[in-house]
Amino acid sequence: MSLVIHLGETDSSNNYLKKLLQEQAVEEYTIVSTDFQTAGKGQRGNGWESEPEKNLLFSMLLYPVRVKANEQFIISQIVSLGVAKALGKYTSDISIKWPNDIYWQQKKICGILMENSLSGEEIKESIAGIGININQEDFRSNAPNPVSLKQITGVELDRQAILNEVCNNIELYYNCMLQENNEYIISAYKDLLFRREGFHLFNDNTKDFHARIKDVRPDGILVLETETGTERKFAFKEVKYVLS
Ligand code: BTN
Repeated sequence: MSLVIHLGETDSSNNYLKKLLQEQAVEEYTIVSTDFQTAGKGQRGNGWESEPEKNLLFSMLLYPVRVKANEQFIISQIVSLGVAKALGKYTSDISIKWPNDIYWQQKKICGILMENSLSGEEIKESIAGIGININQEDFRSNAPNPVSLKQITGVELDRQAILNEVCNNIELYYNCMLQENNEYIISAYKDLLFRREGFHLFNDNTKDFHARIKDVRPDGILVLETETGTERKFAFKEVKYVLS
Protein backbone atom coordinates (compact mmCIF):
# COMPACT_ATOMS: atom_id res chain seq x y z
CA MET A 1 0.00 0.00 0.00
CA SER A 2 1.26 3.43 -0.91
CA LEU A 3 2.04 6.25 1.48
CA VAL A 4 -0.60 8.96 1.04
CA ILE A 5 0.20 12.56 1.93
CA HIS A 6 -3.13 14.32 2.13
CA LEU A 7 -3.31 18.11 1.97
CA GLY A 8 -6.33 20.33 2.50
CA GLU A 9 -5.05 22.72 -0.15
CA THR A 10 -1.98 23.20 -2.33
CA ASP A 11 -1.09 24.97 -5.57
CA SER A 12 -0.77 21.73 -7.52
CA SER A 13 -0.21 18.19 -6.24
CA ASN A 14 2.37 17.67 -9.03
CA ASN A 15 4.29 20.75 -7.88
CA TYR A 16 4.11 19.70 -4.23
CA LEU A 17 5.56 16.28 -5.04
CA LYS A 18 8.27 17.85 -7.19
CA LYS A 19 9.32 20.17 -4.36
CA LEU A 20 9.27 17.32 -1.84
CA LEU A 21 11.63 15.36 -4.09
CA GLN A 22 14.09 18.24 -4.02
CA GLU A 23 14.06 18.24 -0.22
CA GLN A 24 14.09 14.56 0.77
CA ALA A 25 14.06 10.98 -0.42
CA VAL A 26 10.54 9.93 -1.43
CA GLU A 27 9.46 6.32 -1.83
CA GLU A 28 8.05 4.96 -5.03
CA TYR A 29 4.20 4.91 -5.12
CA THR A 30 3.99 7.87 -2.73
CA ILE A 31 0.79 9.75 -3.37
CA VAL A 32 0.09 13.41 -2.75
CA SER A 33 -3.63 14.05 -2.76
CA THR A 34 -5.47 17.25 -2.06
CA ASP A 35 -9.00 18.58 -1.62
CA PHE A 36 -8.27 21.77 -3.53
CA GLN A 37 -5.67 23.18 -5.88
CA THR A 38 -5.13 26.93 -6.19
CA ALA A 39 -3.21 26.48 -9.45
CA GLY A 40 -4.10 23.03 -10.76
CA LYS A 41 -2.23 22.32 -13.98
CA GLY A 42 -3.68 20.75 -17.10
CA GLN A 43 -2.14 19.76 -20.40
CA ARG A 44 -1.12 22.33 -23.01
CA GLY A 45 -0.60 24.99 -20.32
CA ASN A 46 -4.28 24.89 -19.31
CA GLY A 47 -5.57 24.92 -15.73
CA TRP A 48 -7.61 22.18 -14.08
CA GLU A 49 -10.96 23.07 -12.54
CA SER A 50 -12.08 21.30 -9.38
CA GLU A 51 -14.45 22.47 -6.66
CA PRO A 52 -13.10 21.99 -3.09
CA GLU A 53 -13.62 18.49 -1.62
CA LYS A 54 -15.61 17.23 -4.59
CA ASN A 55 -13.13 15.35 -6.72
CA LEU A 56 -9.92 13.37 -6.74
CA LEU A 57 -6.76 15.41 -7.28
CA PHE A 58 -3.58 13.48 -6.76
CA SER A 59 -0.09 12.73 -7.98
CA MET A 60 1.72 9.41 -7.82
CA LEU A 61 5.47 9.02 -7.85
CA LEU A 62 7.08 6.28 -9.93
CA TYR A 63 10.71 5.41 -10.59
CA PRO A 64 10.59 3.57 -13.91
CA VAL A 65 14.39 3.44 -14.00
CA ARG A 66 14.67 0.87 -16.74
CA VAL A 67 12.33 2.71 -19.10
CA LYS A 68 14.20 4.65 -21.77
CA ALA A 69 13.19 8.25 -22.46
CA ASN A 70 11.89 7.24 -25.90
CA GLU A 71 9.70 4.52 -24.33
CA GLN A 72 8.04 6.82 -21.78
CA PHE A 73 4.63 6.47 -23.40
CA ILE A 74 4.27 3.09 -21.67
CA ILE A 75 3.95 4.93 -18.33
CA SER A 76 1.18 7.06 -19.76
CA GLN A 77 -0.57 3.90 -20.97
CA ILE A 78 -0.22 2.25 -17.54
CA VAL A 79 -1.70 5.25 -15.73
CA SER A 80 -4.54 5.70 -18.23
CA LEU A 81 -5.41 2.04 -18.01
CA GLY A 82 -5.34 2.03 -14.22
CA VAL A 83 -7.79 4.92 -14.09
CA ALA A 84 -10.02 3.63 -16.89
CA LYS A 85 -10.32 0.13 -15.42
CA ALA A 86 -11.12 1.52 -11.96
CA LEU A 87 -13.80 3.88 -13.32
CA GLY A 88 -15.16 1.02 -15.41
CA LYS A 89 -16.36 -0.53 -12.14
CA TYR A 90 -18.73 2.42 -11.60
CA THR A 91 -20.11 2.94 -15.10
CA SER A 92 -19.97 1.58 -18.62
CA ASP A 93 -18.75 3.58 -21.66
CA ILE A 94 -15.36 4.53 -20.20
CA SER A 95 -12.63 4.89 -22.79
CA ILE A 96 -9.14 6.33 -23.21
CA LYS A 97 -8.93 9.24 -25.59
CA TRP A 98 -5.41 9.21 -27.05
CA PRO A 99 -3.01 9.94 -25.58
CA ASN A 100 -4.30 9.91 -21.99
CA ASP A 101 -7.66 11.54 -21.36
CA ILE A 102 -10.31 9.37 -19.79
CA TYR A 103 -13.73 9.74 -21.32
CA TRP A 104 -17.26 8.71 -20.50
CA GLN A 105 -19.14 8.62 -23.79
CA GLN A 106 -18.23 11.97 -25.46
CA LYS A 107 -17.22 13.72 -22.22
CA LYS A 108 -14.05 14.04 -20.20
CA ILE A 109 -14.14 12.55 -16.72
CA CYS A 110 -10.41 12.52 -15.99
CA GLY A 111 -7.29 14.34 -17.08
CA ILE A 112 -3.74 13.11 -16.61
CA LEU A 113 -0.62 15.23 -16.56
CA MET A 114 2.57 13.17 -16.77
CA GLU A 115 5.75 14.95 -15.75
CA ASN A 116 8.84 12.83 -16.31
CA SER A 117 12.32 13.92 -15.42
CA LEU A 118 15.06 12.36 -17.47
CA SER A 119 18.63 11.46 -16.65
CA GLY A 120 20.43 10.94 -19.95
CA GLU A 121 18.39 8.42 -21.89
CA GLU A 122 16.58 7.05 -18.85
CA ILE A 123 13.63 8.22 -16.83
CA LYS A 124 14.74 9.28 -13.37
CA GLU A 125 11.30 9.80 -11.94
CA SER A 126 7.81 10.07 -13.20
CA ILE A 127 5.01 12.08 -11.62
CA ALA A 128 1.55 11.03 -12.71
CA GLY A 129 -0.88 13.85 -11.92
CA ILE A 130 -4.47 12.66 -12.02
CA GLY A 131 -7.68 14.66 -11.72
CA ILE A 132 -10.91 12.64 -11.66
CA ASN A 133 -14.29 14.36 -11.53
CA ILE A 134 -16.24 12.51 -8.86
CA ASN A 135 -18.96 14.53 -7.12
CA GLN A 136 -18.87 17.95 -8.82
CA GLU A 137 -22.19 18.91 -10.41
CA ASP A 138 -21.44 22.24 -12.16
CA PHE A 139 -18.37 23.03 -14.20
CA ARG A 140 -17.66 26.70 -14.77
CA SER A 141 -14.37 26.91 -16.63
CA ASN A 142 -14.24 26.88 -20.40
CA ALA A 143 -13.14 23.22 -20.46
CA PRO A 144 -15.23 21.94 -23.35
CA ASN A 145 -16.97 18.81 -22.10
CA PRO A 146 -16.44 17.87 -18.45
CA VAL A 147 -18.51 15.26 -16.64
CA SER A 148 -18.37 13.72 -13.17
CA LEU A 149 -19.20 10.26 -11.90
CA LYS A 150 -22.06 11.76 -9.88
CA GLN A 151 -23.56 13.33 -13.01
CA ILE A 152 -23.40 9.93 -14.68
CA THR A 153 -24.62 7.71 -11.85
CA GLY A 154 -26.83 10.16 -9.93
CA VAL A 155 -25.21 9.22 -6.61
CA GLU A 156 -22.53 10.71 -4.35
CA LEU A 157 -19.42 8.55 -4.41
CA ASP A 158 -16.70 7.75 -1.88
CA ARG A 159 -13.55 9.49 -3.13
CA GLN A 160 -11.23 7.49 -0.88
CA ALA A 161 -12.52 4.16 -2.18
CA ILE A 162 -12.01 5.27 -5.78
CA LEU A 163 -8.52 6.57 -4.98
CA ASN A 164 -7.59 3.13 -3.60
CA GLU A 165 -8.97 1.34 -6.62
CA VAL A 166 -7.20 3.61 -9.09
CA CYS A 167 -3.87 3.26 -7.28
CA ASN A 168 -4.19 -0.52 -7.03
CA ASN A 169 -4.95 -0.74 -10.72
CA ILE A 170 -2.01 1.45 -11.68
CA GLU A 171 0.28 -0.74 -9.55
CA LEU A 172 -1.10 -3.83 -11.25
CA TYR A 173 -0.24 -2.58 -14.75
CA TYR A 174 3.05 -1.13 -13.54
CA ASN A 175 3.97 -4.61 -12.27
CA CYS A 176 3.15 -6.01 -15.72
CA MET A 177 5.76 -3.63 -17.10
CA LEU A 178 8.30 -4.64 -14.46
CA GLN A 179 7.66 -8.26 -15.50
CA GLU A 180 8.34 -7.21 -19.09
CA ASN A 181 4.78 -7.81 -20.19
CA ASN A 182 4.37 -4.58 -22.13
CA GLU A 183 2.39 -6.36 -24.84
CA TYR A 184 -0.44 -6.96 -22.37
CA ILE A 185 -0.53 -3.27 -21.44
CA ILE A 186 -0.39 -2.08 -25.04
CA SER A 187 -3.18 -4.41 -26.09
CA ALA A 188 -5.42 -3.49 -23.12
CA TYR A 189 -4.82 0.21 -23.91
CA LYS A 190 -5.80 -0.24 -27.54
CA ASP A 191 -8.93 -2.18 -26.58
CA LEU A 192 -10.13 0.80 -24.53
CA LEU A 193 -9.40 3.51 -27.08
CA PHE A 194 -12.01 6.19 -27.66
CA ARG A 195 -13.35 5.97 -31.25
CA ARG A 196 -11.39 2.78 -31.79
CA GLU A 197 -13.66 1.70 -34.65
CA GLY A 198 -14.74 3.48 -37.82
CA PHE A 199 -14.07 6.84 -39.43
CA HIS A 200 -14.26 10.02 -37.36
CA LEU A 201 -13.48 13.69 -37.74
CA PHE A 202 -9.99 14.87 -36.72
CA ASN A 203 -8.22 18.23 -37.02
CA ASP A 204 -4.51 18.58 -37.81
CA ASN A 205 -4.39 22.22 -36.60
CA THR A 206 -5.09 23.34 -40.18
CA LYS A 207 -8.19 21.51 -41.31
CA ASP A 208 -10.71 18.81 -40.43
CA PHE A 209 -10.40 15.38 -42.05
CA HIS A 210 -12.03 11.99 -41.68
CA ALA A 211 -9.84 9.11 -40.64
CA ARG A 212 -9.82 5.91 -38.66
CA ILE A 213 -7.35 4.86 -35.99
CA LYS A 214 -4.94 2.34 -37.43
CA ASP A 215 -2.49 2.10 -34.56
CA VAL A 216 -0.94 3.76 -31.55
CA ARG A 217 2.78 3.06 -31.74
CA PRO A 218 4.81 2.23 -28.61
CA ASP A 219 6.41 5.68 -28.87
CA GLY A 220 2.93 7.22 -28.58
CA ILE A 221 2.53 8.22 -32.23
CA LEU A 222 -1.08 8.00 -33.41
CA VAL A 223 -1.36 6.40 -36.83
CA LEU A 224 -4.48 7.36 -38.76
CA GLU A 225 -5.75 6.16 -42.11
CA THR A 226 -7.71 8.65 -44.19
CA GLU A 227 -10.71 7.73 -46.34
CA THR A 228 -8.46 7.60 -49.39
CA GLY A 229 -6.21 5.07 -47.67
CA THR A 230 -3.36 7.46 -46.88
CA GLU A 231 -1.54 6.82 -43.63
CA ARG A 232 -0.84 9.87 -41.46
CA LYS A 233 1.20 9.91 -38.25
CA PHE A 234 0.80 12.38 -35.42
CA ALA A 235 2.59 13.19 -32.19
CA PHE A 236 0.74 14.66 -29.21
CA LYS A 237 -0.62 18.17 -29.98
CA GLU A 238 -0.36 17.63 -33.74
CA VAL A 239 -3.90 16.34 -34.06
CA LYS A 240 -7.21 16.72 -32.24
CA TYR A 241 -10.39 14.73 -32.26
CA VAL A 242 -13.28 16.89 -33.42
CA LEU A 243 -16.11 16.30 -30.95
CA SER A 244 -19.69 16.98 -31.96
C1 BTN B 1 -5.48 17.61 -18.49
O1 BTN B 1 -5.42 18.78 -18.88
O2 BTN B 1 -6.22 16.81 -19.05
C2 BTN B 1 -4.62 17.13 -17.35
C3 BTN B 1 -5.21 17.52 -16.04
C4 BTN B 1 -4.43 16.97 -14.86
C5 BTN B 1 -4.98 17.47 -13.55
C6 BTN B 1 -4.34 16.82 -12.37
S1 BTN B 1 -5.14 17.22 -10.86
C7 BTN B 1 -3.84 16.54 -9.93
C8 BTN B 1 -2.55 16.88 -10.65
N1 BTN B 1 -2.05 18.17 -10.18
C9 BTN B 1 -2.10 19.09 -11.14
O3 BTN B 1 -1.77 20.29 -11.00
N2 BTN B 1 -2.58 18.57 -12.28
C10 BTN B 1 -2.87 17.16 -12.13
